Amino acid sequence: MPSVSRRMASKARRTALGIRQTVDDPYSSHLPVLAGLARVAHISSVLELGSGAFSTPQFLDRRVFPALAALTSLEDDADWLSTVAESTGSDPRLDLRLVQKVCTSVPNGLDQFDLIFIDDSRTFAERSQTIRAVLSEKPRGLVAIHDFEHRAYRKAAKGFDHRFTFKAYTPQVAVCWIGDGSLHPKLSALHSKIVRGSQELKLAPSDTDRWAQLLSDD
Ligand SMILES: C[S@@+](CC[C@H](N)C(=O)[O-])C[C@H]1O[C@@H](n2cnc3c(N)ncnc32)[C@H](O)[C@@H]1O
Repeated sequence: MPSVSRRMASKARRTALGIRQTVDDPYSSHLPVLAGLARVAHISSVLELGSGAFSTPQFLDRRVFPALAALTSLEDDADWLSTVAESTGSDPRLDLRLVQKVCTSVPNGLDQFDLIFIDDSRTFAERSQTIRAVLSEKPRGLVAIHDFEHRAYRKAAKGFDHRFTFKAYTPQVAVCWIGDGSLHPKLSALHSKIVRGSQELKLAPSDTDRWAQLLSDD
């Protein structure tokens, strides 16, 4: 979990940018979208750029990502990596790697990944660089980008053929991809469920069990 001082600094930055945060813990707002993606696409191999106490364990949670066979997670903060490693324990599906900078360590050839999740770094410049590095590899899988309310990230992601932004919670998440647009209706249906969960049922993003129930409803 982020420290109180880090949360306050993050909140102050958002206030300065005129962005209204709609969840208690901004680091968790992507959880329902990621959980929903596991239901609209077959996700067996994930590249996570920026490890965390929320996203990394959720990818490894078999109730949420039942088909996950391999998670490669890149992190450039050694202390943070140790914290994440403690929370995940030893899981043979997880390849947690310490790199010098995530934004300069995006692997070549991303076609093995069904999903790439971008949530690295503490600066707009570095995460924008990460987005551009992923885009330049023309990945075949889905690319989910956290904090997409920030213009810098929308600009960096301009070259994708498609994008769908989930706005139920802020920080927001966009799902971007290259290729045909046939996924749009499924993402719209997922968006409606997430709006219902957030506004009507007032679920916290981290309420895994209740989200699982809602996402499985037809
Ligand atoms: C937004 S965080 C990543 C959050 C992660 N994807 C999750 O869902 O939990 C971005 C980066 O901030 C850095 N960081 C350092 N200390 C942190 C902390 N206490 N909580 C979260 N991120 C931290 C790490 O380098 C991390 O990759």
